[in-house]
Amino acid sequence: MKALVVGASGQLGSALLALLQARGIPAVGTYCSHPRQGSAVLDLRDREAVRRSFAGLEPDLVFLTQNAPGGVDFCEDHPDQAAAVLVGGTRHVLEAAAPRRAKVVLFSSDYVFDGESGPYAEEAPPSPISVYGDAKLAAEEAVQAYPHGFLIARTTAVFSWSPGTKNIAMQIHERLGSRQAFRAPNDQWCNPTLAEHLAAACLDLALSDARGTFNVVGRDWMPRYEMAAALARAMSLDASLIQSVATSELRQRARRPLKGGLTTDKLRRALGVEPPTMEESLRRFSAKFRQEVTHA
Ligand SMILES: NC(=O)c1ccc[n+]([C@@H]2O[C@H](COP(=O)([O-])OP(=O)(O)OC[C@H]3O[C@@H](n4cnc5c(N)ncnc54)[C@H](OP(=O)(O)O)[C@@H]3O)[C@@H](O)[C@H]2O)c1
Repeated sequence: MKALVVGASGQLGSALLALLQARGIPAVGTYCSHPRQGSAVLDLRDREAVRRSFAGLEPDLVFLTQNAPGGVDFCEDHPDQAAAVLVGGTRHVLEAAAPRRAKVVLFSSDYVFDGESGPYAEEAPPSPISVYGDAKLAAEEAVQAYPHGFLIARTTAVFSWSPGTKNIAMQIHERLGSRQAFRAPNDQWCNPTLAEHLAAACLDLALSDARGTFNVVGRDWMPRYEMAAALARAMSLDASLIQSVATSELRQRARRPLKGGLTTDKLRRALGVEPPTMEESLRRFSAKFRQEVTHA
């Protein structure tokens, strides 16, 4: 068995590749614009390049972790680019994966919901309110038509100590480290999810008989402001620099689901373990943070 991690230069992709290597599963990673040592370059928008990569690498299991650079707000202003990376790229992979009947794992988001009534179960009807949410839903629909085995892992509020990426923990470290304030919404609810836990749960699901859509998130549900303050404390930064604001004050380009987040009953039944709490996730995050910062 050989795994391919698309987006190994990103937060989740790098956690997945490290985990596969630690478990002794042959795996290759790809990057697009941020070279990663040992990984291959691949732009999913290039259909022929995707076909060539798959013919050369011959993966049996594919993790699709690509995101549009600039994230949710970038997508709102650049719908064509969002669709090309998130939807077109996914279609190119499905096409290239089919001849080998490779299993495909797509990472999706609670942004496929409108945030009126979260946290959401897997079977709740999607109703995205942003270009990013539309694109994630369209990618899900493409994957649902793939006949050779797929998983859709919906997640939210992913964090990790992962220098070089722009996840919320790294943003807080950068801003508070230079004594600047960080504004976090007190009315956007989410389940903080440690990238390493997300990677491990998704690999376990992928290696099992599980098929279909799973919510893969941390157990606790809280406003993003609380998550930000907890991260600041975990990095021994001044949490008073985290400012609690309403979403309306942030003037974000894209609308956000307010009562977002996801339930974890199906995940718990599939894996037979409770997803980690925020406290458990922070313990692991802090250990990595302290080890890497102390040894830097
Ligand atoms: N972060 C969150 O809170 C969150 C929440 C819900 C869902 N998700 C989903 O989880 C997945 C992983 O998120 P993440 O935080 O790990 O994202 P990330 O750190 O931004 O990484 C995104 C990856 O996508 C790659 N990429 C970008 N454009 C590409 C293209 N055209 N072709 C191939 N690869 C391309 C990037 O490569 P380069 O950097 O080398 O260009 C990078 O490796 C994404 O699908 C995201 O939508 C994330």
